[in-house]
Amino acid sequence: MRTVVEKALRVARLDTTVLLTGESGTGKELVANLIYKNSERTGKPFIKINCAAIPENLLESEFFGYEKGSFSGANKDGKAGIFELVNGGTIFLDEIGDLPIMLQSKLLRVIQEKEIRRIGGNVNIPIDVRIITATNLDLAKAVEEGRFREDLFYRLNVVPIVIPPLRERKDDIEKLTIHFVEKFNKKFKMNKQISPEAISILQSYDWPGNVRELRNVLERIFVAYDGRMISKSQVENQLPIRKQDPENIKGKYTGTLDQIMDAYEKELLISLLNKHRPVDVANLLGVNKSTISRKIRKHNIRHSSIVAK
Ligand SMILES: Nc1ncnc2c1ncn2[C@@H]1O[C@H](COP(=O)(O)OP(=O)(O)O)[C@@H](O)[C@H]1O
Ligand SMILES: [Mg+2]
Repeated sequence: MRTVVEKALRVARLDTTVLLTGESGTGKELVANLIYKNSERTGKPFIKINCAAIPENLLESEFFGYEKGSFSGANKDGKAGIFELVNGGTIFLDEIGDLPIMLQSKLLRVIQEKEIRRIGGNVNIPIDVRIITATNLDLAKAVEEGRFREDLFYRLNVVPIVIPPLRERKDDIEKLTIHFVEKFNKKFKMNKQISPEAISILQSYDWPGNVRELRNVLERIFVAYDGRMISKSQVENQLPIRKQDPENIKGKYTGTLDQIMDAYEKELLISLLNKHRPVDVANLLGVNKSTISRKIRKHNIRHSSIVAK
């Protein structure tokens, strides 16, 4: 996290476009706030929009506003859009990967021309905003698949900041835990501590919901238990039971039991025959050498995968 924060602080002052990528709950919005607060635009307007939360037919008027009488149901005096309202400041476009294609071209135009036009309007309004975007999707892949405009991607991805999932930075768990314990002590006027064993349990969990989930688990513990010490068993009780998902049990193998057993047998034989003579493999597995020969033919195992006979 420190690497991420250092990069964010460095780029904050540079008034450039930033793209934050990371799973949900990793801290993208937190980093966007940090950039805004440490930029030259701090104190100027800062508006956050979740592109996935606004229906497509409303997004355009939210973004650019409209002139009076431009469509039925519209406010009769017209309305300024977000880009106008935030002019001079910073806009945070969250879930940018979900921006509909039509709006992608319009956003590209704002970035290139630095002006907007209200729906139904005929004057261009100069716009000076810093754009920070975030997504939990792989935008480069979305570009490859034709779901995201390549030119817009390059305009937004001037400075990419990738926030890794919590399970890939388990060293952060202890510090974050202590941070949240202090925070909830203040919030609930309590004086809790957490035992090292309890922290170990937190460190061994996978955190699919990332920092947000860690925060929520700790808050639940604060609410659920009395006493000064947060214990190992309190943590275990508040973590979701790790269900073995059937997909995972099957792992890389697919098909019926026979097909899975066959595939496994082939893999096992290849790996053993790579290291041992067929006669030794036969001994190791408790079968005749002729069984091994038959299986080598059955699975079409190449002779190049078989070491010295
Ligand atoms: N490094 C961190 N230190 C403290 N709190 C964090 C950190 N990273 C994330 N959080 C907290 O976790 C929650 C989720 O963060 P958020 O920025 O909303 O994630 P995202 O936008 O990636 O979904 C928020 O409550 C945020 O304050
Ligand atoms: Mg978010």
